[in-house]
Amino acid sequence: MSPLSLAIAADHGGLDLKRQLLAALRAAGHQVTDFGTDGSESVDYPDYARPVAEALTSGAVRFGVLVCGSGIGMAITANRHRGIRAAVLHNTTEARLTRAHNDANIACFGGRTLGVEVALDCLLTFLATPYEGGRHDRRIAKIERPPA
Ligand code: RB5
Repeated sequence: MSPLSLAIAADHGGLDLKRQLLAALRAAGHQVTDFGTDGSESVDYPDYARPVAEALTSGAVRFGVLVCGSGIGMAITANRHRGIRAAVLHNTTEARLTRAHNDANIACFGGRTLGVEVALDCLLTFLATPYEGGRHDRRIAKIERPPA
């Protein structure tokens, strides 16, 4: 796979998994901007989801990775940003389908719900799967601008 630009962040519940995913991404040659957190103190996940979402919407990076305890708070926050399609992933089928059908651009993981090997398999599948386009374009357009 050619090198990709990514942004990554976690709260305290996702820190360990974030560190392992970050190391694997960099070892694979990807360019990754790390927006924290870097310590084990309790922090608020929206403060970490936001800079990753903004790195995507500004065009600075192609994909994002967000990790909290469940992945859910990060996804809820990221999906409030226009143009962001964040999905919580638990298996490689979800990772493949959300890229192929939803053109998802942020992969979210639960540091308390998923092991590192499964998370890494999901992330590699997510990054390697192209968006299918076609009928899915119409549906994605309706996410951004629901019919009146
Ligand atoms: C933090 O305790 C926890 O709520 C957070 O990591 C995440 O799971 C929220 O969705």
